[in-house]
Amino acid sequence: MNRRNIEANPLLEQFSSYLSRIDKYLARELDLYSWSEFYTPLRYASDGGKRIRPLILILSAETIMANKKITSDITEDMFLASCAIELLHTESVIHDDIIDKEDTRRGKPSFHVKYGYNSSILTADFVLGIILNICTKINNARVSAELSMAATKMSEGEMMEIKLTKDPSLKNDDYIKVIEHKTASLFEAASKIGSLLGGGNEEEICAMGSFGHLIGIAYQIHDDIMDWNNEDRLFNILVRNNEQSVEFIDRMEQLYISYTSKAKNELKKISDSVSKKHLEHLTDLTFLQF
Ligand code: IPE
Ligand code: MG
Repeated sequence: MNRRNIEANPLLEQFSSYLSRIDKYLARELDLYSWSEFYTPLRYASDGGKRIRPLILILSAETIMANKKITSDITEDMFLASCAIELLHTESVIHDDIIDKEDTRRGKPSFHVKYGYNSSILTADFVLGIILNICTKINNARVSAELSMAATKMSEGEMMEIKLTKDPSLKNDDYIKVIEHKTASLFEAASKIGSLLGGGNEEEICAMGSFGHLIGIAYQIHDDIMDWNNEDRLFNILVRNNEQSVEFIDRMEQLYISYTSKAKNELKKISDSVSKKHLEHLTDLTFLQF
């Protein structure tokens, strides 16, 4: 593994064996559509992601299995579900880059810049079809329900954000509500689905779901603190409304730290294991600039 890859994806350093298996399954699922017009654009859309959401799903499943002293391997369904989560993220960024007028993503032209608007709309539709196919293979109503909830919440969050960017009475709490919907929903689905497939009971699923939700909020706050390119983002509007104040950014940094520590507290409800340590480490890794 070379240094450039690690810089492109800081998760590779510690999690390369997980990430290569996730990528293998993702390629396998996408290869089912190698006959399609959408195949090459799809590969483009999916390449270069850090795969943090599928990684959380797999580590959550392992954490729960360890909690129950189950020693079996990561199952096919866990990998399939992790592909579904990553693909939901993939289709959301295709649309999000159009909404945010972002010209680049992952160091390359964004999808709509490379393939145009019509292709973007249709590829994202196609991806939803692939996700439904994966759900059929997993054949678990609760997993499907979690994915469905994440998809609807995510869209609601995007819609809320569009409306709020024009709202002169925008508050910090509105911002948190938006990121709970548009970002944390997918992280929460990842950790919940992992726990479900790992055989977790309701208490365990709830704690892990909460962990995902909290780390998702922290992840987006961190991303917004780092990303100053886009003037129209809700976070940057808040910065301007606060007269670009250093105190506001400090407050947001504190908020970010407080969400990561709340996330870690949720993990305390589950017994210690190597996989749980990995999740804790992942929570710290969000301190890195991605
Ligand atoms: C980008 O997510 C959108 C956010 C919610 C911050 P990631 O930073 O996880 O995107 P990739 O998949 O690794 O490029
Ligand atoms: Mg956006």
